[in-house]
Amino acid sequence: TDTALIVVAAGSGTRLGRGMPKAFALVAGAPILEHALRGLAAVDARLVVVVPAGLEADASAIAERAGVAARVVVGGETRADSVAAGLDAAGDARWVLVHDAARALTPPAQVERVIAALREGASAVVPVLPVVDTVRSVEAARQSDGDVLGPIVDRAALRAMQTPQGFDAQLLRRAYAAADARGASTDDAQLVQALGEPVAAVRGDELAFKITTPADADRAESLLGPAIR
Ligand code: CTP
Ligand code: MG
Repeated sequence: TDTALIVVAAGSGTRLGRGMPKAFALVAGAPILEHALRGLAAVDARLVVVVPAGLEADASAIAERAGVAARVVVGGETRADSVAAGLDAAGDARWVLVHDAARALTPPAQVERVIAALREGASAVVPVLPVVDTVRSVEAARQSDGDVLGPIVDRAALRAMQTPQGFDAQLLRRAYAAADARGASTDDAQLVQALGEPVAAVRGDELAFKITTPADADRAESLLGPAIR
């Protein structure tokens, strides 16, 4: 295969608050990482899973239960560090997709839309959704309670970013080599854009939401139904 798929799962899961790295927290009876990998089993790509130090063997066992072959590597302090670690292990693939394990219910069709856009000539692709809420900027960002509200931002001109984000592998490597952006961004396409390269959009999916808070985990649990084991 000419495609590598990096699944970043090395975050700590502070906002989920389960007292363990998020990808290893159970939802509907299985780790979030297992749900994510099950959804990727049919994708034709070389899988690299990036996890916290010390959890490599657990991740390999989870991959096996999910029915996928994956190379497991250790991530870093920030998401960008983890993506960089995944890139180092991605080999010489022509295209690289970077996906959040926390988007555990991402429909396989979304991954395929990203791959199709790359094959059709895009060098950077992001799945996006329209923004549903009315949105304002803030003049002085504090905690939400103390924000001083600025004007409404036309939501028709906004899109929410999802993953997997897909790239020409050489372009993504160049973007990561332009190092100062590293550490700051939670969006790989932003690093590519900083090089002046165009970023294409494909349709995202509500099911590709990121499990971030306990309420998100409840939603995932209800969508997955009763425990799978
Ligand atoms: N991630 C990672 N390495 C990091 C930080 C994040 O691989 N150092 C991954 C997470 O595992 C997740 C994805 O990036 O799959 C999106 O990050 P996020 O939802 O913020 O996860 P966490 O950082 O784990 O959560 P929190 O910010 O609440 O601690
Ligand atoms: Mg985080």
